[in-house]
Amino acid sequence: MSAISTPIIIHGASGRMGSRTAHLAQRDDAFNVVALVSHARSPALEPSARAIAQGAIPLRTPHDLGSLPQEPAVIVDFSSPEGVVAACELARRFSAALLVGTTGLDEPARAAIDTLARTSAVLVAPNTSLGVAAVARAVRDLARALGPAFDAGIIEVHHTKKKDAPSGTAIRLASALAEGGRTLPPSAIAALRVGDVVGEHTVRFVGPDETIEVIHRAGSRDLFARGALRAAAWLASRPPGRYTMSDVLAIDG
Ligand SMILES: NC(=O)c1ccc[n+]([C@@H]2O[C@H](COP(=O)([O-])OP(=O)(O)OC[C@H]3O[C@@H](n4cnc5c(N)ncnc54)[C@H](OP(=O)(O)O)[C@@H]3O)[C@@H](O)[C@H]2O)c1
Repeated sequence: MSAISTPIIIHGASGRMGSRTAHLAQRDDAFNVVALVSHARSPALEPSARAIAQGAIPLRTPHDLGSLPQEPAVIVDFSSPEGVVAACELARRFSAALLVGTTGLDEPARAAIDTLARTSAVLVAPNTSLGVAAVARAVRDLARALGPAFDAGIIEVHHTKKKDAPSGTAIRLASALAEGGRTLPPSAIAALRVGDVVGEHTVRFVGPDETIEVIHRAGSRDLFARGALRAAAWLASRPPGRYTMSDVLAIDG
């Protein structure tokens, strides 16, 4: 562990994204993983699951964080809307920054984030990939350049276990199109749930006699986990307030 490593908690650590983020953070000198956290009802906390689980850091609940090796400077959350409320409470308890990777946020989760942002740095990132941040900017610029002569739509494809639709990324791309002057009706965003697809997003511009497609395909969840860790390291030393992936990557403009 390096002298300047960032103490971090991974929340939702037994899930698909949380476990990959925990795995990569534990192998990265830039981080000191002080706890892996899930909720008290998590099947991953049952004795049989604990016995099978690999790794030196046990899974804990928020009520079982009394003796941490170091207080976290940042918490990364990949859980559920209900889990986001719990993650906000953890961030408040430790005066830590919070990166929310969870999508499909409901009103209680959004309210908890707004309250936390008064006292902590908070970044809500429905997609933590550098490529998607760049795609969002390109899509905004294309909408501006093509103007009303071109219609636009979004198609997103994900694995069958994904709970929200359309994806947080599709919503982010729709807002990028809106920034470029093209507001999509709900019927112009299509979601397909099939197999174990990690995530594919296509923005299609259809004009007279020509079609333009911008496609992003995620190769594995490590893409999102690496992006989340990069953003978390950046966020840990920020003053209270709301941040975006564009702030981390400094690609606005
Ligand atoms: N930002 C991005 O780039 C990105 C990329 C991929 C996915 N995501 C989003 O990240 C979220 C997680 O996705 P996933 O595929 O990892 O889902 P998942 O495999 O279902 O994992 C969710 C994890 O959260 C835990 N959890 C559920 N409720 C909780 C609560 N109240 N408190 C604490 N932990 C709780 C679950 O525990 P148990 O299963 O043990 O109950 C599980 O470990 C989703 O919203 C997904 O859309 C974001």
